[in-house]
Amino acid sequence: MATFTRIEDGDSPSITIHPDHKIAKIDDKIYGGFTEHMGRCIYGGIYDPGNPLSDENGFRKDVIEALKELKVPVVRYPGGNFVATYHWLDGVGPKENRPSRPELAWIGTETNEFGTDEFMKWCELVGCEPYLCLNFGTGTLDEALAWLEYCNSDRNTYYANLRRKNGREKPYNVKYWALGNECWGPWQVEQMTKEDYAKKAYQWAKALKLLDPSITLILCGETGYSSWDHYVLKECVKWDVHGLGNENTTKSLIDMHSIHIYTADKEHLANATAPRSAERAIQMASALIDLARIENKVPATVPKQKVCLDEWNVWDPARAPGEQGAEEQYTLSDALAVAVFLNGFVRQARDLGMANIAQSVNVISPLTTSPRGLVKQTIWWPLLLFSRYMRGHTVALNVRAPEYAGRTQPAWIRAAIETPLLDCSAALGDDGYVNLAVANLSEDRDYEVALHGLRPAGDGKVAVFTVTGDNVHVTNTADEQKVGIREGEWDGQGKFTFGKHSFTLLRWKSGA
Ligand code: AHR
Repeated sequence: MATFTRIEDGDSPSITIHPDHKIAKIDDKIYGGFTEHMGRCIYGGIYDPGNPLSDENGFRKDVIEALKELKVPVVRYPGGNFVATYHWLDGVGPKENRPSRPELAWIGTETNEFGTDEFMKWCELVGCEPYLCLNFGTGTLDEALAWLEYCNSDRNTYYANLRRKNGREKPYNVKYWALGNECWGPWQVEQMTKEDYAKKAYQWAKALKLLDPSITLILCGETGYSSWDHYVLKECVKWDVHGLGNENTTKSLIDMHSIHIYTADKEHLANATAPRSAERAIQMASALIDLARIENKVPATVPKQKVCLDEWNVWDPARAPGEQGAEEQYTLSDALAVAVFLNGFVRQARDLGMANIAQSVNVISPLTTSPRGLVKQTIWWPLLLFSRYMRGHTVALNVRAPEYAGRTQPAWIRAAIETPLLDCSAALGDDGYVNLAVANLSEDRDYEVALHGLRPAGDGKVAVFTVTGDNVHVTNTADEQKVGIREGEWDGQGKFTFGKHSFTLLRWKSGA
C-alpha cells in the first residue's frame, strides 16, 4: 500500500519506505503479454517464415530473445476481438490443408498458417505459459471442450489423439482459459447482454471444469466498474451449486475476473496520469468480487478471485486504428504513463492476479519489427525495469509530493484517486534487494527528495536506473534510439534528485 500526502509547490517532497512492512506477494504474471491475430502481431511479428532473422519454425528469433529478456511469464492468445469468429480446428494439422477464412474483427483474411501447435511451440521457446481465450461469438461449447481436450487430455479420446497425430504426444496442460473477450462490446460478432453472457459463461465453466478441474477460468468483465462487471460476478461467483465440493472445498468455477483498460490523451499530464484509472478499476473490481462473494455466501475456504487485467496499455484508436494494425508510435510521455500503470499494479498486488500488456509485438506494442530488425519503443524501457526488478513483495510506502491539479482523462479520476507528480511503488525481492520505482511526471521540475527508510547493506551503494529524454514528445525509431536506460550509482547520502519527465528505479541490498 502507498499513502500519498499532497504538499504545496515549494515544500520539500519526501518518500518513506518500509522494506520490513510486506503487504502482499506480487504475482509474476502481472508482466504477461498478449498476441492476437491482428495487424502485424502474429504474421510479420512473431511469425515471419523465410526471413533470415527467423528460425526453422518461422519464428522471429529477435522477438523471442526480447521477450525472454523481458521474462514474460504468460501470453494470451489468439484474441482479442479476433477470437469471436475463430475456429481453432482451422489452425491445426498439415498447413497445406488449413483453410483461409474471412476475418471479421479487423476485416482481413486469416490463413491459419499459425495456430494452436505453433503457439504452444513458440511459448516453449519464449519460456512462458499459454493463456487461451475461447470463442464466445460464433463458437460452440462442443468446440471449446474439444480445444481443451486437444490441449490438455492424456486420454485415449478423439481430440487428444488428434493432437498426437499432429505430432505432440504429451498434453500441453494449458492452465489459463478465458470465457470470451469483451462480449459486452458493440463491435463484437455476437455482442451479448450481461444476462445472456452470465448464463452462458456459468454453464460453459461447469462443463470445462468437468473435463479438466485443474484449469483456471477467467470471466469476461468490462472495465471493473460497470453494471456488466457487477452482474456477471454476482451470477457466476458462486459456490457448491455445481457439485464441485462440500463445505471444505477450495474450488470455484470462476477463478479470475478479466478487465481491460486503455488510456491516452494528447496533453502530457492528462496522458501520464490517465493510468491512475486502472489502479482504481482494480480496486473497484476487487470490491465487486467481495460483494458477489458476500451476497452468494461463498466461504473463505474458496480463495478470493483475483483481477486479471488482460489488456492494458496506452492506445488512442483514433490515432492508431485497429483496422490499420494499431501501430502506435510511443513517446516519453507514454513511457511515463506505462510506469504509472505498472506502479499501480505493484501497489495493488494483493488483488491483481495477472496483467497482459496489449500487445506484445507491433500492435500497440513496446516492440516493433521490420524485415531487418527490431525497435524497442519508449515504453519498453520502464516495462523492462519493472519486470526485471519489481518482483517479490510490495512494501509500504508514504509519499509527500505535489499533485497535478489539471484536467484528467477520464474526468472521473479527479474525484476518485489522487494524481501525484511523483508516482511511486516499492518491492522487496526474494533476493533481499529493495527496489523503489519513481516516475516524476512533471514536464519542467526536478524534485530533490528526502528518502527515509533507506538502509542499504554493505558499502551503502544504491544502483540507479533512469529512463528519460530531451522532452516528453521524443520517440524511438529504427534510426534513432532517443530513450533507453542510463545506469549509475548513488552513495545514498543526502537527497536524491528525480529529474523532470523521468522514470527512475533505485535498487539496494536491504540492510534493515
Ligand atoms: O488489443 C486490441 C483490441 O482491443 C482487442 O482485440 C480487443 O479485445 C480490445 O478492444
